[in-house]
Amino acid sequence: MAIDIVSLTSSIGAEIRGLDLRDELDADTVAEIRRAWLDHVLVLFRDQQLGKEDQIRFTAQFGEVGELARPQEYRTPGHADMPPGMMLISNVRENGVPIGALPDGEMMFHHDMLHAENPHTATVLYAVEVPSTGGNTLFASGYAAYDTLPDDVRLPLEGRNAFNHYHFGSVQRGDDKGTPAFAESVHPVFRTHSETGRKAVYVNRLMTEHIADMADDESDALLQHVFDHSERAEFVYEHVWRVGDLLMWDNRCSTHARTDFPTSERRLMWRTTIASDERPY
Ligand code: SIN
Repeated sequence: MAIDIVSLTSSIGAEIRGLDLRDELDADTVAEIRRAWLDHVLVLFRDQQLGKEDQIRFTAQFGEVGELARPQEYRTPGHADMPPGMMLISNVRENGVPIGALPDGEMMFHHDMLHAENPHTATVLYAVEVPSTGGNTLFASGYAAYDTLPDDVRLPLEGRNAFNHYHFGSVQRGDDKGTPAFAESVHPVFRTHSETGRKAVYVNRLMTEHIADMADDESDALLQHVFDHSERAEFVYEHVWRVGDLLMWDNRCSTHARTDFPTSERRLMWRTTIASDERPY
């Protein structure tokens, strides 16, 4: 199958054109998508018309489909209707209760599943309903941030670990209105990508609490610098969703955030992930 790969920015993102993801993809095409994903961190397919099983099949071509990480008590009402491995991201409400996770508003930059011991490698998000404005997802390259981090910030952090924590259901750091976190993790501040060999920033504003074995003042100052640096506009691609967009991104070397959107408008996304048994290093 002939496909076109078009960069979205110089640091992150590529659109892949010429594929209908309902079709069976041959091994060469899967390998080409995988190469583009490793090179560009995020790949976009526009104008898809997928069913839930199509998305599961697409995801499974790149690894083992991840299980839902949430314990039963934090699952959303819409979860019951999802095939295993799929969850809803949505503000749509039934009887006043959101049918999906991460329902409303803005989200700070984060790596999906950073709070887990073996975070999922990739996230696949497919747009079913989008608001007329906002709800954009911003993606930042952790490679670009690492490669350009000033030495006085990078060197004190090399070889160190950070504590990560997440209040499920919240979109703000430390928001105690969210459900309590059920998992916390300790991971390297800079992660080596096991397939590309490159290093990427592996802390984020929403979830990283402090650097292990470092005084609070120093840890806070260094983390603030890393967060501000990592979110610089030149490392970021802002995706304005259209119905039928499918994005797959690499959680090992990128963060993402979401812009606010009107609570009066519906936003519905299907999410799948690729699991991993790799402990970040
Ligand atoms: C997510 O963080 O996985 C959701 C992003 C979004 O809703 O755009």
